[in-house]
Amino acid sequence: MREDDITPCANLATSLPLGKTYGFKTEEWIQKLQRACTEKGNLLFVAEEEGRLAGFVWVHTHGAFLAAPYLRFIAVDPEYQGRGVGTLLLKEFEELTRYLKKDWFLLVSDFNTGAQRFYERHGYQRVGELPGFAKEGVAEVIMVKKHEDRD
Ligand SMILES: CC(C)(COP(=O)(O)OP(=O)(O)OC[C@H]1O[C@@H](n2cnc3c(N)ncnc32)[C@H](O)[C@@H]1OP(=O)(O)O)[C@@H](O)C(=O)NCCC(=O)NCCS
Repeated sequence: MREDDITPCANLATSLPLGKTYGFKTEEWIQKLQRACTEKGNLLFVAEEEGRLAGFVWVHTHGAFLAAPYLRFIAVDPEYQGRGVGTLLLKEFEELTRYLKKDWFLLVSDFNTGAQRFYERHGYQRVGELPGFAKEGVAEVIMVKKHEDRD
């Protein structure tokens, strides 16, 4: 992610229905992404279509229990959803961290059944729930994909 991708990515995160549900604020996202660009372990990858931002993924290489890769956030512009951009970004998450030989972790809101289906199709399984972890009244579903060559 380049410096000038930060504001468009923050705008995308906050404009999604998901961002509105969680009360994301653009200024806070700009600061979070700026920090992530400099802090160890954070990886940010942008997908572009026709020269425009189509989506982005934010990964922490050891974000799950200081041990395993964690998908911090993934978002595709609604105009480009359902066209394979999310699949490309999810593959990027896995490829960038495959060398760690650890399982891949993520959280997804219990109401976000579209995203849950998306992850399941890519080999992720539900292993538990964190009720009210990020927002009162919403459970975060913990999903894990097994690394095929774990240490
Ligand atoms: C979930 C998301 C990243 C998937 O990206 P994508 O580019 O739409 O995904 P792909 O085109 O590679 O795959 C499409 C699959 O995603 C799922 N999906 C989820 N939301 C979707 C949407 N609004 N439009 C189309 N597909 C959607 C479907 O299961 C679809 O599978 P299908 O083809 O069997 O119906 C994207 O829809 C998105 O950004 N959603 C809003 C933000 C969000 O929920 N992020 C996840 C937070 S954990």
